[in-house]
Amino acid sequence: MSISIGSAGRSGGPRSLLRGLAKEAEGKAFDGQVVGRLLTYLRPHWTKMVAAFLLMLVVTGSTLGIPLLLKVAIDSYIASQDLRGLSQISVIMAVAFLTLFGAASGQRYLLSWVGQRVLATLRSQLMRHLQVLSLGYHSRHIVGVTISRVIGDVAVINELLSQGLITLVGDLLVLIGIITVMLVLSPSLALLTFSTIPLMLVATYFFSRRAKVAFRQTRQSVAGIVGTLAEHLAGMRVIQAFAQEEAMRERFDDANQENRNAYVAAMSLSFVFLPTVEFLAVLATAIVLWFGGRAVAQGALEIGVLVAFLAYVTRFFQPIQELSQLYTTMQSAMAGGERVLELLDARPEVADPPDGKEMPTIEGRIELRGVHFSYGSDDPVLHDVDLVIEAGQTVALVGPTGAGKSTIANLVARFYDVSSGEVLIDGIDVRTVMQQSLRRQTGIVSQEPFLFAGTVLDNIRFGLPDIEATSVEEAARQANAHEFILELPNGYETEILEGGANLSMGQRQLICIARAVLADPKILILDEATSSVDTATEALIQEALDRLLSNRTAIVIAHRLSTIRKADLICAMQEGRIVSRGVHDELLEEGGVYATLYKRQFVEQQ
Ligand SMILES: Nc1ncnc2c1ncn2[C@@H]1O[C@H](COP(=O)(O)OP(=O)(O)O)[C@@H](O)[C@H]1O
Ligand SMILES: [Mg+2]
Repeated sequence: MSISIGSAGRSGGPRSLLRGLAKEAEGKAFDGQVVGRLLTYLRPHWTKMVAAFLLMLVVTGSTLGIPLLLKVAIDSYIASQDLRGLSQISVIMAVAFLTLFGAASGQRYLLSWVGQRVLATLRSQLMRHLQVLSLGYHSRHIVGVTISRVIGDVAVINELLSQGLITLVGDLLVLIGIITVMLVLSPSLALLTFSTIPLMLVATYFFSRRAKVAFRQTRQSVAGIVGTLAEHLAGMRVIQAFAQEEAMRERFDDANQENRNAYVAAMSLSFVFLPTVEFLAVLATAIVLWFGGRAVAQGALEIGVLVAFLAYVTRFFQPIQELSQLYTTMQSAMAGGERVLELLDARPEVADPPDGKEMPTIEGRIELRGVHFSYGSDDPVLHDVDLVIEAGQTVALVGPTGAGKSTIANLVARFYDVSSGEVLIDGIDVRTVMQQSLRRQTGIVSQEPFLFAGTVLDNIRFGLPDIEATSVEEAARQANAHEFILELPNGYETEILEGGANLSMGQRQLICIARAVLADPKILILDEATSSVDTATEALIQEALDRLLSNRTAIVIAHRLSTIRKADLICAMQEGRIVSRGVHDELLEEGGVYATLYKRQFVEQQ
């Protein structure tokens, strides 16, 4: 019974979520293309797999051989009272048992060894791939869903690759072997035993059809739980603020209950199926005993053959049972495999140039030339934007929410590529250089400061681990963060919780600014860096910004007048266009968007 959280993982937002479900609804248990590609993960471990395969043959051989030894012991030695022969065959039998157990353990060890390595390889490959995928991909995909791909789907695949394939072959061999040996030992008794097979097939067919539906429902309901939980955790603040715990808990409970019901339904099926199989095994045993016993009594059958038959009959149904379970494993593995491969196949929209050219050290002149842009296939967000920012200048972008300010920042840092037009830095089209070589020279401080779990020190020198503490401190001083850091329980060594939870928004922002100061980029983008902090912190940030902006090119997206006023150029944006540009007084006089915004904010800030 293999139910894995992983099957919940389908990414790609609601639309591809549906596509994923549809795929699973088809419930392919074997997809040559998927299996073929997954098998490549076994290639580096082929020696171990071959060894496991050989051990499986040994297990199969001993499983088939032991009842035969029993037959020989009874018919050849017990019957003729050959005690020496009997003790010999007893020793052989003990050895056969030891071999069986040894080989089975060895096989299991090898398979889990390989399985865990494949698992780890796949996971780190996925992680690396997720890092390559552009922000565009990540903004379209639900985090929880991606996580379940990396954790859960990968686990089902592992189950198939390591255990599944060998089990499949082993079970088939045992089945064929038992049928053959039975037919050789006593064709008539064998055929009588096989009379239960049609019943078995009917039961299996009946079960697997229902199981297919039941297990699919279980997997889908797990997806519901993961989704609700992820959203719940991410939005805990809002949930608590709006006192919506009750309502959210109900939503979770619904998903939870659905999963419980689906699981119980699936399990009940196997609780019916497994006794059915056992019943059939007992029935077959009874048939063998009845007819075999009579044949022995009439002297038509050796008693050893009867004993061997009884041993085979009990083993006969085990592979059938395992194979029917493997069927459900294979279904989830196919669906999971397809999703994992789909993720691995996703190409980053923003790709490095093939020639791998590095961006030389820049002066910092930015130029947007006839830039049009849309996120995905949606409506265009930027229309024909032209903008020149000379090296060292500060340009302020202002405009209502949704005007496209952050989008311009995204294009300059090349988190996205323009739909048409060009973004040039020092005259070089950003698409012609390696992303990292560009981003190393640009810095962004955004509205939502992000901190990693670790010390304050490590967060400031993020990405520059070799930098000395004194430089970090200097950067913090410049960012006006030094004072507050010293007041933290352990100063620079204070552990920050995941996401910066134990610091105020303003403190997080100051640390992010210190991080940017330390990285010392030629181009700095501040995207509403002061919009979510208190006035006292803002004054600190403002003061730091003056230091930070001197000597580099800056794009400042701000709603604070003081920042905007000091800019060399102000661009007022509306609906994806730069509608007017100039310095503060010019724009006020002009009386357009800027004047409106200014008046509103000016009144607000009084
Ligand atoms: N990742 C995204 N995917 C799709 N649309 C987006 C994305 N980010 C922003 N948009 C859309 O682009 C437009 C401009 O957004 P943005 O540049 O963030 O505006 P601003 O920063 O000026 O408030 C908005 O209409 C917004 O809905
Ligand atoms: Mg924005």
